[in-house]
Amino acid sequence: MDESPYRPRYHFTPKRNWINDPNGLVYFQGEYHLFYQYNPAGSDHDNISWGHAVSYDLMHWEELPVALPYADGVMAFSGSAVVDWANTSGFAAGENPPLVAVFTGHHTIQKRQDQRLAYSTDRGRSWMFYTGNPVLDPGLRDFRDPKVFWHTASRKWVMAVVLSNEHRVRFYGSPDLKSWEHLSDFGPAGSIKGIWEVPELLELPLEGHPGETRWLLKVDVGAGGPWGGSGAQYFLGHFDGARFIPDPGDLATPCWVDRGKDFYAALSWSDLPNTHAGPIWLAWMNNWQYAKDLPTHPWKGALTVPRRLSLAPDPACGELVLVQKPLPELQKLRSSHLRLLSQRLAAPLKLGPQPPVLEIRAEFVLEAAREFGLRLRVGTGEETKVGYDAAKGQLFVDRRNSGPSGFSPDFAQKHTGQLRPENGRVSLHLFLDACSVEVFADQGRLVMTDLIFPNPTSNGLEVYAEGGSAWVESLDVWSLEVSSK
Ligand code: FRU
Repeated sequence: MDESPYRPRYHFTPKRNWINDPNGLVYFQGEYHLFYQYNPAGSDHDNISWGHAVSYDLMHWEELPVALPYADGVMAFSGSAVVDWANTSGFAAGENPPLVAVFTGHHTIQKRQDQRLAYSTDRGRSWMFYTGNPVLDPGLRDFRDPKVFWHTASRKWVMAVVLSNEHRVRFYGSPDLKSWEHLSDFGPAGSIKGIWEVPELLELPLEGHPGETRWLLKVDVGAGGPWGGSGAQYFLGHFDGARFIPDPGDLATPCWVDRGKDFYAALSWSDLPNTHAGPIWLAWMNNWQYAKDLPTHPWKGALTVPRRLSLAPDPACGELVLVQKPLPELQKLRSSHLRLLSQRLAAPLKLGPQPPVLEIRAEFVLEAAREFGLRLRVGTGEETKVGYDAAKGQLFVDRRNSGPSGFSPDFAQKHTGQLRPENGRVSLHLFLDACSVEVFADQGRLVMTDLIFPNPTSNGLEVYAEGGSAWVESLDVWSLEVSSK
């Protein structure tokens, strides 16, 4: 038996200690590498190093020793990693291309930040800090989170990095990952209430238009997110090898990646074999408002499920929006199955005690009900509601009574997102783990990620309608099981 009922079963979390952003996601020789902001010595944000785990399927993770340690007064803040196939850096030893990590050096005494390299020539098992570090140092205090990728058309490495306080993403180019030339800046734009962090620049496929792509620039905000605290916003446009050119339109109103409160610092995998299907990213499932106060021990923090990304038109206005879909590979975790078909619902229907770890698909047809949906982790005085408010046209996650929330005044909230029924239907796809719920709706256009901390005895599951009836076309509930490796 695990030491805590909140330990996630299929979301990544380290065995012990503090974790924040995912870093250096890279696929190489059959392994998905996951690095992350990690305190090897405690459960607070300190001694920041790159922790390391590998997986062959993005579901089962093996934790490896710390890859980039905090050393000589320099913490290893966030960054990315690439396979340097052509050995442009010259770090290769023998046949194997090197893995190169590009990360921010955070000087704890001088409070300065610069960009640095580390490399591995043994499939990520051991790492060397480059002796020529730092490779980029304009002498700034808040200059961090380099995302690096190979830009094929202009045949060079491109880095997106933020000037946090200036609300600017700065782009650099390099032939060898070691010398960097300033290309352009983007911003301020969108939400500028908080500092900018962790940029991500991605080329995404357009659903239904094979071969067509558009660029997405994601940048996180440390405060002023959709429900307070941190959040992730994005812009769509083109990248010409030097500049990000946003599509014409409103650049002031932020487009949020996730309408829940616990999705931050997302990063995508570099060097995936089948890129035409779209990138895969995951995020830190947390919010800086209360990350340090979560009631979990001996670990603090977890990551979301991996999500495949693309773009699709919003049926309401025809404009492109980000689509996030949980990886189909998650279906391999499905175990026992419960199914309900074609049922009119006018009162709550209790589905009996359920395991804490579930995948749920539900399709509702709107009737007169004012509100309908699911009550998760129901117990004495506890429930987490995922429902649809028909009058407001809103999907919501209500975690006000989800369990203990006294650790932060900013936790017990109801989060909403606009959702138009499709042919009079609302379809929901949910992933429930021991302390989280992720809701995918509108074919991935609306996603909500929220932490919850229910009592282990709160194991009820109900489907409900209020103020009239709703038709349940289908409801599928799978318990999920993760075999240990
Ligand atoms: C985002 C962030 C990054 C920084 C890292 C430090 O959550 O603040 O900007 O590099 O975390 O751990």
